[in-house]
Amino acid sequence: VGYSSIHIYVCVYIYLFQPCISIMGWLCVESSINEHWIMHSQYSHTVTHFQHFINYLSSRVFLSYFNIFPLFCISEFRYNDLVSPHYLNLIANLSGCTAHRRSPNCSDICFHQKYRTHDGTCNNLQNPMWGASMTAFERILKPVYENGFNLPRGVSPNSFSTTQYPLPLPRIVSTKMVGTATITPDDRYTHMLMQWGQFLDHDLDQTVPALSMSRFSDGQSCSSVCTNDPPCFPILVPQNDARAANSQCMFFVRSSPVCGSGMTSLMMSSVYAREQINQLTAYIDASNVYGSSDRESEELRDHTDQRGLLKKGLPIPSSEKHLLPFSTGPPTECTRDENESLIPCFLAGDHRANEQLALTAMHTLWFREHNRIATELFTLNPHWDGDTIYNEARKIVGAQMQHITYSHWLPKILGDRGMKMLGHYKGYNPNVNSGIINSFATAAFRFGHTLINPILYRLNDTFGEIPEGHLPLHKAFFSPFRIIQEGGIDPLLRGLFGVAGKLRVPSQLLNLELTEKLFSMAHSVALDLAATNIQRGRDHGIPPYTDFRVFCNLTSVENFEDLHNEIKDPNIREKLKKLYGTPLNIDLWPALMVEDLIPGTRVGPTLMCLFITQFQRLRDGDRFWYENPGVFTPAQVTQLKQASLAHVLCENADNIQQVQADVFLKAEYPQGYMNCNEIPKIDLRVWQDCCEGQ
Ligand code: HEM
Repeated sequence: VGYSSIHIYVCVYIYLFQPCISIMGWLCVESSINEHWIMHSQYSHTVTHFQHFINYLSSRVFLSYFNIFPLFCISEFRYNDLVSPHYLNLIANLSGCTAHRRSPNCSDICFHQKYRTHDGTCNNLQNPMWGASMTAFERILKPVYENGFNLPRGVSPNSFSTTQYPLPLPRIVSTKMVGTATITPDDRYTHMLMQWGQFLDHDLDQTVPALSMSRFSDGQSCSSVCTNDPPCFPILVPQNDARAANSQCMFFVRSSPVCGSGMTSLMMSSVYAREQINQLTAYIDASNVYGSSDRESEELRDHTDQRGLLKKGLPIPSSEKHLLPFSTGPPTECTRDENESLIPCFLAGDHRANEQLALTAMHTLWFREHNRIATELFTLNPHWDGDTIYNEARKIVGAQMQHITYSHWLPKILGDRGMKMLGHYKGYNPNVNSGIINSFATAAFRFGHTLINPILYRLNDTFGEIPEGHLPLHKAFFSPFRIIQEGGIDPLLRGLFGVAGKLRVPSQLLNLELTEKLFSMAHSVALDLAATNIQRGRDHGIPPYTDFRVFCNLTSVENFEDLHNEIKDPNIREKLKKLYGTPLNIDLWPALMVEDLIPGTRVGPTLMCLFITQFQRLRDGDRFWYENPGVFTPAQVTQLKQASLAHVLCENADNIQQVQADVFLKAEYPQGYMNCNEIPKIDLRVWQDCCEGQ
């Protein structure tokens, strides 16, 4: 244990004497944590990170301190030549390398017939790990790494591994093609369209980050080094960039590999390309409210009485409502600036709940919705125990999220054409794996970053600006104190459904708050979300755009002109050409973002195809899909179809009285608004025991 870092070693002493070689020494798995690892973790929740750290310790570096005495004939050897399968297993077990290979017990069929597990296991009874948290992302195309195996494309500045053109620095793509000072408001949809997207995403995926934020070799923080030393993979800043005066690089650490993939597959006597881990359940199951493991869900539940409630935080004066509870543990991003506030982060089912204030407001809304439903169910069924109330309320909350997503949100994103391609629900298909596809999480669904306004509007009950004013986005990152001290969640929520969203225009992608000021309060060198998305794509071995065109049956391309059907603006094609040299090099995320919108949708053709692939799987492969016969009674499904985000807002905001019926659709105030008592609601009486079977 050093003054600022802890190194952990799991070691096995090996003594082998074999015909070709004799070995004596320690085989060690080494990793380090230090204060930077805690302080610079992008999203708070150190306890969970520590858990991951322990679980995936072995996906880190393997250091072998061997005395190897070649007797004769050895030129090459593999781990399994040196260490017997028994010892390999022992090392794997000691280090936690087998943690992800858990085999869940789905034998409590009475439970599994009715309710989801928290970690998503046992949803598919034939393949109980499908869609479970802490499993590898799915792939629709094989990963592409520079060395075919684990190194990101473009890792060596002048490598021409697949084409004669080097890959551009992600930061150059960001400044030349993505960042924008001008934005165009959406003529149809509100900023809530963006916010639902992010909230939904946080029900679907979060990549497990590197377990240490410091390089393994010497414990130096990844925020202070500009070399590619695992796990650091800094985003280089070109010399003529305005940022260069400040720093040569921006902080970035690689995502954790699945144990047994990439480098560690060598230990397992095979070569598997590096895969990444989703720490959430894939299903739309409100895991952003309840957590993605039993441990997380326990931390969130209120066990003081048997009412099936979630823990509450500070009460709101003049209402019966409460804020989310605070997260306990060491200080995190929310208290980074002591002069500003010492209010800690809020605790919710997803660790990113404090990432920006409008997201925190959504989490607050939905945790209150659980408690509202649980309270009503208890009144209807006073004989139910706490677990039954909790599970039934959780099931209703998840079903509402599915309904809002597929009936209200997706039709706006995919348009009529896309909804037709998605097709109607035809029942549960146990052959469909709902797991999140790597390219969906790492590129496609990050389309939402192009919908973000640079300002969070904060509106009073007549939809004017509050005295504290609107907020430039960078002031909304990790600042829960503003909810407590600057008017609660209502002004932020009104700013979501009362203001137009940002339209994705191919020449106006990410506002400068995101490319120049991301998390500027927490990082000495602000991050750049566009460059991060591109770097992450390479970190995950996401194949180039042209490969996905093939997957999506689009025309093949030989030169940039061939892209003209999907990318009409010749200036953008020219920019792509200057940056990438050949279409074969184009990174997936920026290409998806510059495709023109299909009229009536908010996506281009390749994005449409990737969305349909993922959203079909999420629906058809979910045994607990709300429309799957037997999950709810027909009477209950009828009620669930009344669900709307407008109603959730009316019930659970601090005191919102007026909304439009569809909060994703722009409306003029006051003509386009309704009183909350006119918004349809779910009648929970059909959950009363006597009504079962109706
Ligand atoms: C102000 C709003 C937002 C901010 C500040 C933000 C920021 C971020 C950051 C910092 C990351 C991690 C990047 C990395 O290290 O790879 C991320 C990931 C991601 N974001 Fe956003 N985001 C926002 C809104 C959205 C929206 C609206 C969507 C979708 C509609 C979205 C979808 C995603 C997805 C899919 C990921 C990958 C998650 C994973 O699986 O790890 N984000 N975002």
